[in-house]
Amino acid sequence: DKGGYKHFMAKEIAEQPGVIGSALDHYLSDAGIEMPGLDFAVCDRLVMVACGTASYACMVAKYWFEQLAGLPVEVDIASEFRYREPPLSPASWSVFVSQSGETADTLAALRYTKEKVAKVVSVVNVSTSSIARESDVALPILAGVEVSVASTKGFTCQLTVLALMALKAAVDRGRMDADQLAAHLAHLRNLPGLMNHALLLGNDVARIAADLAEAQDILFLGRGPMYPLALEGALKLKEISYIHAEGYASGELKHGPIALIDQHVPVVVLAPRDALYEKTVSNMQEVMARHGKVLLISDAEGVHEAGAGVWRSLTLPRIEPWLAPVLYALPAQMLAYHTAIAKGTDVDQPRNLAKSVTVE
Ligand code: M6R
Repeated sequence: DKGGYKHFMAKEIAEQPGVIGSALDHYLSDAGIEMPGLDFAVCDRLVMVACGTASYACMVAKYWFEQLAGLPVEVDIASEFRYREPPLSPASWSVFVSQSGETADTLAALRYTKEKVAKVVSVVNVSTSSIARESDVALPILAGVEVSVASTKGFTCQLTVLALMALKAAVDRGRMDADQLAAHLAHLRNLPGLMNHALLLGNDVARIAADLAEAQDILFLGRGPMYPLALEGALKLKEISYIHAEGYASGELKHGPIALIDQHVPVVVLAPRDALYEKTVSNMQEVMARHGKVLLISDAEGVHEAGAGVWRSLTLPRIEPWLAPVLYALPAQMLAYHTAIAKGTDVDQPRNLAKSVTVE
C-alpha cells in the first residue's frame, strides 16, 4: 500500500521522521542507551562490512566511532572482504549492516568472521533474516518494510542506530560523560523535526531535478562524513534515473575528476557548516572557475556565505555537524526521486536491480 503516494520511494522518504523517532524511542531509556550485550570497553577495533548503501552507512559510522569513541574502524564491501580473507584481531568485533539481512556477500563475510572475532554484531531491518539469526547481537533498525529498490529510510535508520552505537562506545570507553551524552542525545532527538523541514523542499528539488534530468554526468562532493553521503547521493541517482553520477571526497577533485568539469556537468556540493566547510567551499569555487554548474546544499548561513554565483542552492535547517549526513540524505534522495520522475523511469523497480541480492 503506497498510502496515497505515487511511489513507495516517495512514501518511504516521507516516513523517515516517524521511523527515526521510533528507533530512538526503542533504544533510549532514562538509564541511557539500551544495547544489551554490547560493552565497547572490551573491544579494540570494529570491522564493518556491507554492500551498497549499507556500506556507505558504515563509512559514515567510521567517522563517528573514531571521533566520538576513539575506536578504530575498518570498513569494507562484503564482496571484497569475503575473498580477501583478512586477518582479524581476536579482540575485535565484526559489524554487518544490511536492510534485508539476506545479502549473499554480507552473509558470507559474516560467516568468515565467526570464529575469528570476539563478537559478531548486525544492524538489520528484517529481524528474522539470516544475518540477524547468525549474529551474536542483532540490532533492529525498525524502519518498517522497505519496498522501493532504492533504499531511503533503511539508510537513515541504519545511521541512527549506528550513531547510538557510537555514543554508547564513547560512554563505555570513558570518552563521554553524562552531560555530554545528554547533549548528543538531544541532538539526535532533534533529527525528526529537522527532517520534516527538509521534506518541505520537495517543490524546490523537483524544479532543480527537471534540469538535472538533462545531464549526462553529475558529480557529488563532500568531506568528512559527507564524503560517504556524496557516494550515496550518486548511487541513488544512478540507480533510478540512469544518469551517470559519481561521488568524490572534495579533496580528491584536483587529483583527477576536475578534468571532467565543464558547463554541462552539474556538481552537487554537500556543505553543512562543519569544521571542513571552508575547505569544501574552496573546492566548490574551483569547480565554478571551470564553469561547472554547482548545486550547493547547506544551511542558511552557509548558502549566504558561499552561494554567490552558484547555479542553484538548497537550504536545510542548521544541524549539529556530526549528524549532518542523516539530514542531508533527504535532499540527496529527493534529487534522485524527482530526477527519475522527470526522466520517466521506473522509480520503485529500476531496471536490472533486485531489492535483495541473494546471489553473488
Ligand atoms: O539489504 P542490504 O542492505 O544488504 O542491501 C545492500 C545493497 O544491495 C543495497 O543497499 C543497494 O545498494 C540499494 N539498492 C541502494 O539503494
